[in-house]
Amino acid sequence: MALLKIRKFPDQSLKTAAAPVENIDGELNSLVDSMAQTMYAAPGVGLAAPQVGESKRIVVLDTNHEEPGKHLLKLINPRIVEARGKVIWEEGCLSVIDFSADVERAAQVLVKAWTPDQKEIEIEANDLLAVALQHEIDHLDGKLFIDRISRIKRELYRRKLKKMIKDGKADDRPSKVRI
Ligand code: NI
Repeated sequence: MALLKIRKFPDQSLKTAAAPVENIDGELNSLVDSMAQTMYAAPGVGLAAPQVGESKRIVVLDTNHEEPGKHLLKLINPRIVEARGKVIWEEGCLSVIDFSADVERAAQVLVKAWTPDQKEIEIEANDLLAVALQHEIDHLDGKLFIDRISRIKRELYRRKLKKMIKDGKADDRPSKVRI
């Protein structure tokens, strides 16, 4: 296991749709475990493989950091099969430094995925877990939460980021819950 480097917007790897995993075998374990370790260390409640430069449809999630590891989800090729209702949630992201914004998502989702030990599972989720699942699956499709806010807000963030980088202030400050 190792801590992996989290790519930050506007890194190109975040804009690329990830490829489905075709063979679920033991070789994935070290990547998945390193992703989980990186997520807890960040800290964040979710991390998708493209965020660490791996173009694979793999996600780790844990919305309960009070008992780390107990509720850890390791999902391979996750997909949303049902979505209901609407919720607005203030989202942040480990790949988008120093910014959060309200994003509209489905309030409840049913997700199907595979686990690293080749079991097909279904997850019914609402609240933060539903939001986080949608946010992570977006990462697998090369999308960030800032692609789901208004263009003007996104432009303002781009400008702010440019200025932060120019001023040498683009350090990664932990802010809100980051997904
Ligand atoms: Ni994210």
